[in-house]
Amino acid sequence: MTIIEIREVKRTWKLLRNINPSIVADAFYSKLFLEHPRLRSMFPKDMDEQYDKLITMLSKIVARLDNLENIQQEVVDMGERHKSYGVVPKHYDMVGEALLWTLEKGLGDDWNDEAAKAWSKCYGILAAEMMG
Ligand code: HEM
Repeated sequence: MTIIEIREVKRTWKLLRNINPSIVADAFYSKLFLEHPRLRSMFPKDMDEQYDKLITMLSKIVARLDNLENIQQEVVDMGERHKSYGVVPKHYDMVGEALLWTLEKGLGDDWNDEAAKAWSKCYGILAAEMMG
């Protein structure tokens, strides 16, 4: 990613973090499960912990975007665990779309083409690393 793209991802994530994280995560999973109902059964019934895990992990990744190699092993290990949850490559596209939708809705006027491009790239890199 370029420095400008990294800056864009950080800027938008910081704005999104002004919204209650459980509302952001709720919007994300609602969108994901409405579009892809079959994914629901892969997750636990009670999603509270999952909300927290997702937002915390994304915050960690965004904070380290300038030096992603520092958390590469952690991302690869997370990808391995995802295989054991039954996650396959096509699921990454579904999750990526729901994530960008959530960012767009959450940011409103602060969302633009640059932000969309920067996030697609960021998510693409992460997903590729997780898929191995
Ligand atoms: C960049 C992409 C993703 C990130 C950052 C992410 C993050 C996480 C984190 C932090 C956990 C907690 C457990 C762990 O670390 O292993 C988790 C669990 C899980 N994720 Fe993801 N995930 C991503 C993509 C996906 C995709 C594409 C799917 C497919 C539907 C998925 C489905 C799940 C499931 C089923 C669990 C386990 C829930 C449970 O049984 O507790 N994730 N994810």
